[in-house]
Amino acid sequence: MHVENVSIASIAKDIPTPFYCYSYSAIKENYLAYKRTFSQQDTLICYAVKANANQAILKSLANLGAGADVVSEGEIRRALQAGIPANKIVFSGVAKTRDEIAYALVHNILQFNVESEPELALISEIASAQNKVAGISIRINPNVCANTHAKITTGKSENKFGIPIAKAQSVYQYAASLPGIKVQGVDVHIGSQLTDLEPYKQAFSKVAEFVAVLRSDGHNISIIDIGGGLGIDYHENETPPNKEEYAQIAQELLGHLGCKIIVEPGRSILGNAGILVSSVVYIKKGEARQFLIIDAGMNDLIRPSMYDAYHQIKPVEHTTNTSTFYDVVGPVCETGDTFTKQRELPTAQAGDLIAILSCGAYGSVMSSTYNTRLSAPEIMVKENQYSVIKSRPSYEEVIEQDIIPHWL
Ligand code: LLP
Repeated sequence: MHVENVSIASIAKDIPTPFYCYSYSAIKENYLAYKRTFSQQDTLICYAVKANANQAILKSLANLGAGADVVSEGEIRRALQAGIPANKIVFSGVAKTRDEIAYALVHNILQFNVESEPELALISEIASAQNKVAGISIRINPNVCANTHAKITTGKSENKFGIPIAKAQSVYQYAASLPGIKVQGVDVHIGSQLTDLEPYKQAFSKVAEFVAVLRSDGHNISIIDIGGGLGIDYHENETPPNKEEYAQIAQELLGHLGCKIIVEPGRSILGNAGILVSSVVYIKKGEARQFLIIDAGMNDLIRPSMYDAYHQIKPVEHTTNTSTFYDVVGPVCETGDTFTKQRELPTAQAGDLIAILSCGAYGSVMSSTYNTRLSAPEIMVKENQYSVIKSRPSYEEVIEQDIIPHWL
């Protein structure tokens, strides 16, 4: 198995497993596909930093002209440090704090995607104190079903996100009355890993109607942020949702409004551009199951435990023609540390390298040091070269973070 022109086995000779490995060219191609498909409209692609916040990845996207969708001061700092200009940064999230808002205002970001009235009041207060004007969109909750996992559905009325359209009209009036606030757009994001485009149609139609209402109320709406969420193919032989069709839907339903379109893709840029490489530690033959015990755990990749997510698992080197049904499990002391159950895989032995596919998004960023396991390093490959883009910390560095009180 190779990433671009570099064999995974050769990387594993230098870097102990587990490690994440990304293809620069795949990231670039996925980003450029958005540029191409949205070329009919004035569009800003704000990569959702939460999907993978590594500086090398942000720098790659910054060099291609990407903006950033961020959800914390930390992500603003990461985006700025990687060279994404502030005027291409939109700030999402339900719990922006005073300090975070102040930081974003000092740096003159493009827009706050506002989630509530108290947040509006706070932005107004801080902007006024700084003598700044904050550009805002209000995130509306269109109450559409995204047909995705419940934990990553965001556009239903029972979700904590956005403001229901019925109420949003008056919240826009309120926003327009506040000092230091410039109403400039409408924002919507209905969920993640959408494989069906129908929910987007419903949401964008509601947004279009709502923009007309806002304009008749006298608001100057020049931006529509359509969020992210376009899914990827995790399964073999699955057809990923079509980016062209997605852009077409946006064009058909929103194009006539003459607004700048912001798109916030995360997973569809990074997801299939990264793998998690691991080694088989033991094969354990249980009474009912055979366990393929690997050196990556739920602390490295939590998606299977948290969302019952399916990831393809492949041997890095083909050494056998036989197959076995395995439960693939990690080292963490929890039964939930299971990547898959009863999956037919090439028969493996201790020491074999395996790759868990489609891990570029929501992999490394969601990792932890649970069980005092060191975070997996990240590697980026471009053509025939590779670099470590995040190193593995030492045990000393991890343990050093704890402080024993002087009175103990
Ligand atoms: N914009 C907003 C406001 C979001 O909340 C998200 C993702 C995105 C954009 C990017 O969505 P994407 O294009 O990546 O689907 N940890 C979960 C996914 C959480 C998504 C959270 N919000 C997972 O591993 O499936």
